[in-house]
Amino acid sequence: MKAIIWTKYGSPDGLQLREVEKPTPKDNEALIKIYAATASRADTEFRRLKLPFLFAIPIRLYLGLIRPTRIKILGTEFAGEIVATGKEVAQYQTGDQVYGYTGLGMGTYAEYMCLSEKPSALLGVMSKRPTNITYEEAAAVPFGGLEALHSLGRANIQRGQNVLIVGAGGSIGTYSVQLAKHYGAEVTGVDSGGKLDMLRSIGADHVIDYKREDYTKNGQKYDVIMDTIGGSPFAGSVRSLNENGTYLNVNPKMIHRLQMGLASGRSNKKLLSWEGSYTTENLLRLKELIEAGAIKPAIDRTYPLEQIAEAHRYVETDQKKGNVVITLEHIHNPPSKEKP
Ligand SMILES: NC(=O)c1ccc[n+]([C@@H]2O[C@H](COP(=O)([O-])OP(=O)(O)OC[C@H]3O[C@@H](n4cnc5c(N)ncnc54)[C@H](OP(=O)(O)O)[C@@H]3O)[C@@H](O)[C@H]2O)c1
Repeated sequence: MKAIIWTKYGSPDGLQLREVEKPTPKDNEALIKIYAATASRADTEFRRLKLPFLFAIPIRLYLGLIRPTRIKILGTEFAGEIVATGKEVAQYQTGDQVYGYTGLGMGTYAEYMCLSEKPSALLGVMSKRPTNITYEEAAAVPFGGLEALHSLGRANIQRGQNVLIVGAGGSIGTYSVQLAKHYGAEVTGVDSGGKLDMLRSIGADHVIDYKREDYTKNGQKYDVIMDTIGGSPFAGSVRSLNENGTYLNVNPKMIHRLQMGLASGRSNKKLLSWEGSYTTENLLRLKELIEAGAIKPAIDRTYPLEQIAEAHRYVETDQKKGNVVITLEHIHNPPSKEKP
């Protein structure tokens, strides 16, 4: 099968198209024919090993000290079709159309991949995919959708509340804006200027260009502030919350965890740090929300697998709006009348 082999840490040139052996599913695994994947921010950060120091050491030990030797295929999101199953697989069968997130298992930049049917916080989760969107769109749902759904669920948003999303134009952010709107909130999206029209188009009521305006100094108060990138000023954000408001940091650095730990319990404001929840139930909930028209994936560009290096370079220009999708040559979207 064709796959993009990750030959070195660093530049996108290390991602090379090769012919490799097609994997065989173990007893508890399904063999998935991948039709679409994504080039995500995290893929580019792993590729360069641009990770927080304390995280980079164990990750390097896991991936390979000098170059990636244990995990050779990058990519964490996919949509595709099950083409074979191991003898213990009970929930899926050949022909099922699925989508999912592979976490540290990675491996989606390839024509085929094996995944256990049992969800794992570290090694991935899948479910049947939404039936009213294409494979390209479905591949762009799992990571951002799962993070947004679980995190905003913890904030327990009430109708009419003011919600501010930092990094609103990214993968997590675009789902967060739409979900907060779905829960009945008045939503402010914060991102760079080139993404603000897109944010309005997916439902943001107000937008702020973070390069021109500091939302912690404009006198506005919010019931929920959700930081998807871990770049928001902590003290200013907490001051910008209403009484009983919630500050949610989905990508906290060590310093943020420390700040939140020290400040927690000192006021009636709730401070929540990232907590992963990659479950089949949440993927199925996202499927329902998409099929009901409540949320939809924001797709910026699509590249064929062979142009993965270009896709990574584009993500690293910081112009990406929502998601960048990777398509496989053998992609086969069912005709709209016969969608599953
Ligand atoms: N995607 C994954 O699989 C994954 C997994 C684990 C962790 N994460 C981490 O989670 C974070 C968010 O992920 P993502 O996939 O949503 O990233 P993303 O798609 O790159 O979105 C992040 C957005 O935040 C904007 N931004 C940057 N600095 C900002 C600031 N100070 N204020 C407001 N907006 C700002 C970026 O815009 P500009 O670039 O134009 O400034 C971009 O639109 C990333 O740091 C990523 O490393 C992602």
